Amino acid sequence: MSMLSHSFSMIATIIVVLAQTLVTVSSLPEADRINSLPGQPQVKFQQYSGYIWVDDQNQRALFYYFVQAEEHPASKPLVLWLNGGPGCSSIGVGAFAEHGPFRPTDNNALEKNDYSWNREANILYLESPAGVGFSYSSNKSFYALVTDEITARDNLVFLERWFAKFPEYSDNEFFITGESYGGHYVPQLAQLIIQTKTKFNFKGIAIGNPLLEFNIDFNSRSEFFWSHGLISDSTYEVLTKVCNYSSIRRLIQNGNLRGVCERANKLLYTEISKYIDEYDVTLDVCLSSVNQQAYVLNQLQETQKIDVCIGDKVTAYLNRKEVQEALHGSLVGVANWSTCSDVLHYDYQNLEIPTIPILGSLVKSGIRVLVYSGDQDSVIPLISSRSLVNGLAKEIGVNTTVAYRAWFEGKQVAGWTQVYGDILSYATIRGASHEAPFSQPQRSLVLFTAFLEGKPLPS
Ligand SMILES: *[C@@H]1O[C@H](CO)[C@@H](O)[C@H](O)[C@H]1NC(C)=O
Ligand SMILES: *[C@@H]1O[C@H](CO)[C@@H](O)[C@H](O)[C@H]1NC(C)=O
Ligand SMILES: *[C@@H]1O[C@H](CO)[C@@H](O)[C@H](O)[C@H]1NC(C)=O
Ligand SMILES: *[C@@H]1O[C@H](CO)[C@@H](O)[C@H](O)[C@H]1NC(C)=O
Repeated sequence: MSMLSHSFSMIATIIVVLAQTLVTVSSLPEADRINSLPGQPQVKFQQYSGYIWVDDQNQRALFYYFVQAEEHPASKPLVLWLNGGPGCSSIGVGAFAEHGPFRPTDNNALEKNDYSWNREANILYLESPAGVGFSYSSNKSFYALVTDEITARDNLVFLERWFAKFPEYSDNEFFITGESYGGHYVPQLAQLIIQTKTKFNFKGIAIGNPLLEFNIDFNSRSEFFWSHGLISDSTYEVLTKVCNYSSIRRLIQNGNLRGVCERANKLLYTEISKYIDEYDVTLDVCLSSVNQQAYVLNQLQETQKIDVCIGDKVTAYLNRKEVQEALHGSLVGVANWSTCSDVLHYDYQNLEIPTIPILGSLVKSGIRVLVYSGDQDSVIPLISSRSLVNGLAKEIGVNTTVAYRAWFEGKQVAGWTQVYGDILSYATIRGASHEAPFSQPQRSLVLFTAFLEGKPLPS
């Protein structure tokens, strides 16, 4: 090789290297990068948000908010988070009230959440299906009947296209997490990834207070109410002998609640009273949503550590024009951003699809599964989740590898846990609500960290 061609090839090499560097740098989509959210404290990690089209006619776009890990994002896992409803927002609930980096304050600012899950992973919050939060369908007939199947399919297309936009995360370990109706979204999306052999580095799922089996989950509510002193012996007897809560729930959904079931439901709610947060029976309610005058009285009481009115603050924050601009979010076909969709008609028949068998097939495919319960939630109580997981373990023949025992955060019991076959785990979070990381952020972060590492909870 002559000197000339050698230097040519060196220049060529430098150009190639430069070009690769440019590609790598510009592959992070600058247009989606968030400069700073209004009122946000300074942070070192990057945030991105924007839209991904999920159908070929460009009619449906899903909105995401992506928070890089606080440190070493390249080597940390990537975690998708899905709130439930069906029809509620992962950004309004998951990101801004549970485990995102910031929470809104009284004076319209954001404060840092010390127990943010992005201390351990890159977190991708997705508003799904279209019609939730900033996600939309420009063809409104989509909203007429949305099903689990449509949601899972759109979520998979979203992920494929998101990875194409952020290719540097394709090799990171990938996990799917969520809560409540996420007990449908998360396993169904996971199953679709396995079935379509989509090449994500997919490792596991975690679901909190998940709907897994309609009858068992809803019937266990009565026992929870009764054992926590929210209803009388006689009402409990009505709910066990005359009309089940699952029957009540089914009748309400079909607009058919009457007769003995209507009376049972009335008895139940009269005794519970409307000043109880069913998502955490030990927490006070946010009185501003229940009764403005009582809220004024409550302001005079001792300030609480847990901000039970966070939902109102999140809604106010996400409805500010400058916040929507900073997030690159648009309101398409709706007047306001709302926590749960007002436009979407979800197929309520889908609530009855059992997803517990899907957990079994995921375990058989080598996917790590964690089911956890905030133990003060009456909406999907620990009682049903614990026995569903235990029953599943027996059915698929995975033996107990960590016997039921307390787990710890610091020196205090943070809940109880059991592990089967080193792959299927159950855990409670002591003192936690339906949205566990909202009321027990520190314990939830310990649980999340152990889950990502595939380790049993600290003893
Ligand atoms: C909207 O969606 C419906 C149902 O999928 C379809 O029949 C209709 O053609 C669509 N409208 C437009 C304008 O694309
Ligand atoms: C209770 O629920 C079960 C379904 O889990 C149903 O088969 C049964 O008929 C219900 N009983 C009453 C009294 O509503
Ligand atoms: C919705 O938006 C309208 C107009 O922008 C506003 O007047 C109204 O107060 C908002 N409602 C809520 C619940 O935020
Ligand atoms: C589970 O336990 C049973 C009974 O102790 C034993 O027969 C079986 O081999 C165990 N299964 C596995 C996968 O270890």
